Amino acid sequence: MTRADSSDEEPARPPAGMAAALLAWYDRHHRDLPWRTPPAALARGARPDPYHVWLSEIMLQQTTVEAVRRYYAAFVARWPDVEALAAADTQAVMKAWAGLGYYSRARNLKACAELVAAEHGGRFPDTEAGLRALPGIGAYTAAAIAAIAFDRPAAVVDGNVERVAARLMALRTPLPAAKPAIRRFVERATPQARPGDFAQATMDLGATICTPRRPACVLCPLRGDCRGLATGDPEPLPLKAPKPDRPLRRGAAFVARRADGAILLRRRPERGLLGGMSEVPSSAWTARQDGATGAEAAPFAADWRPAGTIGHVFTHFALELAVYHAEVAASAAPAGCWWSAPDELPGEALPTVMKKAIEQAVPGATLRQQPDTARSA
Ligand code: ADE
Repeated sequence: MTRADSSDEEPARPPAGMAAALLAWYDRHHRDLPWRTPPAALARGARPDPYHVWLSEIMLQQTTVEAVRRYYAAFVARWPDVEALAAADTQAVMKAWAGLGYYSRARNLKACAELVAAEHGGRFPDTEAGLRALPGIGAYTAAAIAAIAFDRPAAVVDGNVERVAARLMALRTPLPAAKPAIRRFVERATPQARPGDFAQATMDLGATICTPRRPACVLCPLRGDCRGLATGDPEPLPLKAPKPDRPLRRGAAFVARRADGAILLRRRPERGLLGGMSEVPSSAWTARQDGATGAEAAPFAADWRPAGTIGHVFTHFALELAVYHAEVAASAAPAGCWWSAPDELPGEALPTVMKKAIEQAVPGATLRQQPDTARSA
């Protein structure tokens, strides 16, 4: 067994000079992200806006930087501070979040904004403990906001940071069992000065150099101290315990279209998966293995025609939806439903799975119409 294999041994300590080397690298190579206050501005005395830091960290939970950029810009343009978001219409927030996924984040975002506005005078608490008491803020997010917005030396551990640390340590313990050792390592590595930049530097290193596949070790500012590199093969780290297979659920989705192109929608219950978002009428999603999809759950009798199936992968299960399509003459919407006109549909709070179902039946229906440039040219 190698040194690093031994689980009862004190795990590797961060190399001396790690923070200094990483911060120097970050000063030159940090990513320009719209929610960031760059190191040069911080050095001149600029302070990050806690609202921007909070909003970006909530959006970045389980979501890529590229996907977040657009949503972040739209949110701050529309709701420039926490009071504005607190006063916003909840359904408008859900609509603006549509497509970003993990919709409980949007509900918690609104609840958190209301709490900060009503009970904290519009100012976010500046400690990890204070932040953790707010809706939607867990250990990771509290540490990230405390470090980035308030200069607290909190240990910020996300997936990128886990990978960087596990490789520096040559840790052979698989995730999730490796988490406590990684956390201790990051706690010890986090400097008192510039903890927010240190956290973001580690994230950037993980995103651009210490990547999951084919890490660019020759460019790494920490290569001289990396035990993983010294073993000759850092790429497989961190090791991961095999995940159980995702179960498959099935259901049916009913896309009813009126002669004017409007599509029938309803709102999902507030609680539960995709809570408060919009959908086409659908059956319950069941794990039955008999292939039944719930085709009997149509909202009304019509000439329902099969339009194929779509698949979507959620965190805990995969979904296969049989899509049915009917062209209907009815004008009144059944109880709890509404007709969404073609120019309104793209702005509805439709989760991606529902956009897929509608697109399967009526291609292009959820896309915003482009202005007719041909005519004006
Ligand atoms: N992922 C989560 N938070 C981040 C941040 N502040 N910068 C870059 N990537 C992130």
